[in-house]
Amino acid sequence: MIKTTKIIFIGLICLFMVGMVISRQDVELPDDMSKFSHVNTLAVPDEESPIHGIHQFYLNEKGMEVFTSDKEGKKYPDGTIFFGRVYKVVKTDEGWIKEGDLVAVTYMRKESDSEAVQNTGGWRFVMFNPDGSVKDIDPQKACFHCHKPHEKSDFVISTPLQK
Ligand code: HEC
Repeated sequence: MIKTTKIIFIGLICLFMVGMVISRQDVELPDDMSKFSHVNTLAVPDEESPIHGIHQFYLNEKGMEVFTSDKEGKKYPDGTIFFGRVYKVVKTDEGWIKEGDLVAVTYMRKESDSEAVQNTGGWRFVMFNPDGSVKDIDPQKACFHCHKPHEKSDFVISTPLQK
């Protein structure tokens, strides 16, 4: 009896670990950019900031209607993807600021029914290396504490560009 319990227990642990690996691997950077539009840019020259860099944000078609609406209390549909290409901040001799090498890509995908993302507002927060591999981060600590106060806009901070 004890043996059976042990086997079941080990089996469960294995399943859990496989689940963790799968959930980590089932995200990848979009390769079809025709479904994405640039929505805004953020430049953080302060090297001490956790989000130091020049960020170019993109959004897929799925989330565009909600993003551009001026309704209070937004809710993005599942499958909405925002991602931000993060570039080095380069100060030129003229004193201008321009983007350097790509250093990372930040990514949010709405999956409201996924258990794994309930403590990050129904969004999967991921950070990619420039080669597309997933960085090992804790989405709560590394990302969500900044996005959390923006509950009214479904934890999205960006606002549409002025026309
Ligand atoms: C220091 C606060 C802070 C942290 C930490 C942070 N973000 Fe953000 N994030 C922002 C701000 C501010 C914006 C909006 C920028 C703008 O308005 O252009 C943003 C925007 C985004 C966007 C575009 C959609 C949106 O909400 O506007 C994505 C995607 C994103 N962040 C992902 C991440 C990921 C992934 C992490 C963790 C690796 C992370 N962020 C950590 C502050 C933060």
